[in-house]
Amino acid sequence: MAGDATQIDQNPIVNPSEFQPSPPQDEQPPPPLSKNAQKKLLKLQKYEAKKAEKKASIKEQKKREAERKRKEWEETLTGVSEEERLTLIESRRKLRKERMEKRSEERESKIQRLTGAKTNGQKIVIDLEFSHLMTSSEIHSLVQQIMYCYAVNGRCASPGHLWLTGCRGEMENQLQRLPGFDKWIIEKECRSYVEALEDQKENLVYLTADAEMELDELDPKKIYIVGGLVDRNRWKGLTMKKAQEQGIQTAKLPIDNHLKMSSSQVLTVNQVIEILLKFLETRDWKASFFQVIPQRKRCDADSTENQVDGEECREKDEPSEKKKSCIL
Ligand SMILES: C[S@@+](CC[C@H](N)C(=O)[O-])C[C@H]1O[C@@H](n2cnc3c(N)ncnc32)[C@H](O)[C@@H]1O
Repeated sequence: MAGDATQIDQNPIVNPSEFQPSPPQDEQPPPPLSKNAQKKLLKLQKYEAKKAEKKASIKEQKKREAERKRKEWEETLTGVSEEERLTLIESRRKLRKERMEKRSEERESKIQRLTGAKTNGQKIVIDLEFSHLMTSSEIHSLVQQIMYCYAVNGRCASPGHLWLTGCRGEMENQLQRLPGFDKWIIEKECRSYVEALEDQKENLVYLTADAEMELDELDPKKIYIVGGLVDRNRWKGLTMKKAQEQGIQTAKLPIDNHLKMSSSQVLTVNQVIEILLKFLETRDWKASFFQVIPQRKRCDADSTENQVDGEECREKDEPSEKKKSCIL
C-alpha cells in the first residue's frame, strides 16, 4: 500500500451523478437545472478546483524538494577527489539498497503476519451497516479510522483477523478510493455479519458501551463486533438495540474497573480496536486503556486537560494527521 492518508479528500456533494445529462428522449433538450441543483453543481465545481489546486501545490513542493536534494548532492560531489567521489557514490548506492531491502523484508513479514491471522487471529468485525445514518463527512471520518485500524493491526506481532461487513454503497466507494485498499489483507464482505457468519451466531459478541456485561478476557472462539459509526452520540443505544433485536450477546470494555473517565465511555472505532489489539498483546486492560485513551478523556491524577468534551469527539479522537501519514 502506498500513499498519504492525509491526501484523501472528501467530496462534500452527495451525488454528483445528479448533474449528468439524462439520455436524449425524442430529441428534447434536457430540462434546466433547478436552483438547488445549480447550487450543488457550483459547489462541486469549486470543490474540484480546490482539490486540483492542492494536488498541484503538493506536486510542486515535492519537485522543489527533489531539486534541492539533487543540488545538495552535486555540491557534495564537487570539490572532492575522483576517488572520494566514487566512494561517496558507492556508499549512497549501498545505503539505498539496504533501505529498500529492509522495507521489502518488513512488507513481507507484515503480509505473513496478516495472512497467518486469517487462520489464527482473534476475529474482530467492523459493522458497516450504518452509512445511511451518517453524513458524507462522518463516513469519511470512519474510513480514516478504519485505515488507521488496519495499519495498527499490520504492525502487531500477532494481528487480529479483521472483517469489514455490510461494506456497500457510499461506505464501499470511499474505502475503494483509498490507495491500495484492494490489496488489504482483510475480509471485505458486502453481506451483514449475521449472514456472513451465520454458522457462528452463538459466538458473536456486539461490543457496545451500553451493555451490562463487562469483558473480562478475549475468547479466541468469539467474534467481537464493533459498530462502524461516527455519530457524535446522536444515535444513543443504537448498537445495543440492534444486538438485542438480533439475539446477539453484548459486552462493554471494562473501563470502570481500571480508570475514571472525565466524560462518556463511548469511544471511537479506532480506539476500541486499538484497545482490543493492545489487550491481545499484553493481556492487561489497564495498560491498554492508558496507551490508547487520550489523557484529556481520563481523570488521572496527572491529567491537566480534563473535562474537555462530554461525548465521543471524533475530530479529537480520530487518528491525528501525523499518525495518519505513517499509516501506508
Ligand atoms: C462511536 S461508537 C458508536 C456509538 C453508537 N451510538 C452506538 O450505539 O454504539 C463506535 C463503536 O465503538 C464501540 N464502543 C465504543 N465505546 C465502547 C465501550 N466503552 N465498550 C464497548 N464498545 C464500545 C461500539 O461498538 C460502538 O458502536
